[in-house]
Amino acid sequence: TKPIQIAIDGPAAAGKSTIAKIVAEQLGYIYIDTGAMYRAITLKALQEGINMASNEEAGALLKKTEIDLQPSENGQLVFLDKKNVTEEIRSQNVTKAVSEMAAHSSVREHMVELQQQLSESRGVVMDGRDIGTHVLPNAELKVFMSASVEERARRRFEDNTNRGFHVPVEELQEEIAQRDKMDSEREVSPLKKADDAIYMDTTSLTIKQAADEILRLAKERL
Ligand code: C5P
Repeated sequence: TKPIQIAIDGPAAAGKSTIAKIVAEQLGYIYIDTGAMYRAITLKALQEGINMASNEEAGALLKKTEIDLQPSENGQLVFLDKKNVTEEIRSQNVTKAVSEMAAHSSVREHMVELQQQLSESRGVVMDGRDIGTHVLPNAELKVFMSASVEERARRRFEDNTNRGFHVPVEELQEEIAQRDKMDSEREVSPLKKADDAIYMDTTSLTIKQAADEILRLAKERL
């Protein structure tokens, strides 16, 4: 059968990447976490101390930056100018700054091009905010995944605990809500459900239930 493209979009911490990884593995497809790319350029912007409010400065920085994604055992490794930054891009500093960088047209145009190249003529599961609307408009399966903000903060808290961080759940909830607001209200490719995307509320679903549902939808399209 011909491989298909699966686009998974939705707000922060809805479970997109966890579920996308499982689906990709089951189908033998590649998994592309586009949020990691925006996080990587944000890390560099913080390190270089550029003016993050400037579309021009952000675009110029990205032009002299190499962002590389490599598949690994548990998902994906992220390299910034050849350095492995997979863990570092998850820091609270990067998380708080990423939506400002991701709002710039100079940044988005470059990233979308990279993402389209990475997925050209192969089976792919890609997660992000604008995959179904802009990056892969012809994806055979589009899912818009959400969950209540309380549940998303609770999941992020659990994740953090497993990774040895402690950020109070109230603070996570606030950060998540703020990021969703910025991502939904920006002018260039805001977070939005594509008209042909299937809405999936994962608030009361287990990881397995959500992954199985996407696999079932994918198999209908193979
Ligand atoms: O998916 P993740 O939470 O890691 O994404 C981090 C940020 O990157 C988002 O809050 C959003 O600002 C940006 N992003 C985006 N478009 C994508 C993926 C992520 O604007 N396709």
